[in-house]
Amino acid sequence: MRTYIDSAEVENVREAYELGLVDGVTTNPSLVAGTDREYRDIIDELTEFVDGPISVEVIATDYEEMLEEAREYDTWGDNIAVKLPMTRDGMKALRTLTAEGVQTNITLIFSVNQALIAAKNGATMVSPFIGRLDDNGHDGVGLIEDIREVYDNYDFETDILAASLRHPYHVQEVAKAGADIATLPPSVADKMFDHPRTDSGLEAFLDDWGDRESPALK
Ligand code: E4P
Repeated sequence: MRTYIDSAEVENVREAYELGLVDGVTTNPSLVAGTDREYRDIIDELTEFVDGPISVEVIATDYEEMLEEAREYDTWGDNIAVKLPMTRDGMKALRTLTAEGVQTNITLIFSVNQALIAAKNGATMVSPFIGRLDDNGHDGVGLIEDIREVYDNYDFETDILAASLRHPYHVQEVAKAGADIATLPPSVADKMFDHPRTDSGLEAFLDDWGDRESPALK
C-alpha cells in the first residue's frame, strides 16, 4: 500500500519523506487555511522534493469555474492531482479533465455508488472518508472493502485512497481491506513507528550490554 501525507505543513511532509512514507501528498482547503500561507507557495515547496501525486483541491462548486481552477492547478507541477468534490458538477469536470489527461482525486466519498460514478468518469483516485464515517456510527473500513470488491469486479483502474484516518489501527485495517493508498495525518504516521515492547526491549538490550564497546567500532 502506498502512503501519502495528509498535510499542508511542508516540514511535516519533509520529516515523513525522510522516514520513507511519502509516496504522495494530499491537501484540502481546511489544511491550507490552517497554515496562513498561500496555497501556491506550499505546493511549490512540496514539488521540490515530492515525486508522487500532490492533491490540490478546487474551491469552486460550478463546472466552468472548477475547470478554470483545475487547469491552473495542473500547471503548478508535473505531479499535481486535481481534487474535485463528489458532486454533479464535480463529475462533469472530472469527465472533461480525464479527457485532457489531468490526474484527479475525487474527495468526500461516503458510499460505494459515489465511488462507482467517479470510476466510470475516469477518476485517478477516490477518497473515501473513513474517520468521518466512523464518527457517524458507520463502518469506514467496511466501505473500503466494498469499493475494492466493486472495482475488482469490473476491473476499474481508479485507486482507492483511504482518507480521514484517525489512528494507526485505521491504517492497518484499510491495508487489509485492499486500499491502494492511505493518506496519513502526520500524527498518525508518527504513531505507526511505536510499540512499548520495542522501547522496553531496546532498553533491556542496552542495559545488558552495559559499558562494553561496539565490536564494530573498536
Ligand atoms: C484528505 O484527502 C482528506 O481531505 C482528509 O483526509 C480529511 O480528513 P479529516 O476528516 O480528518 O478532515
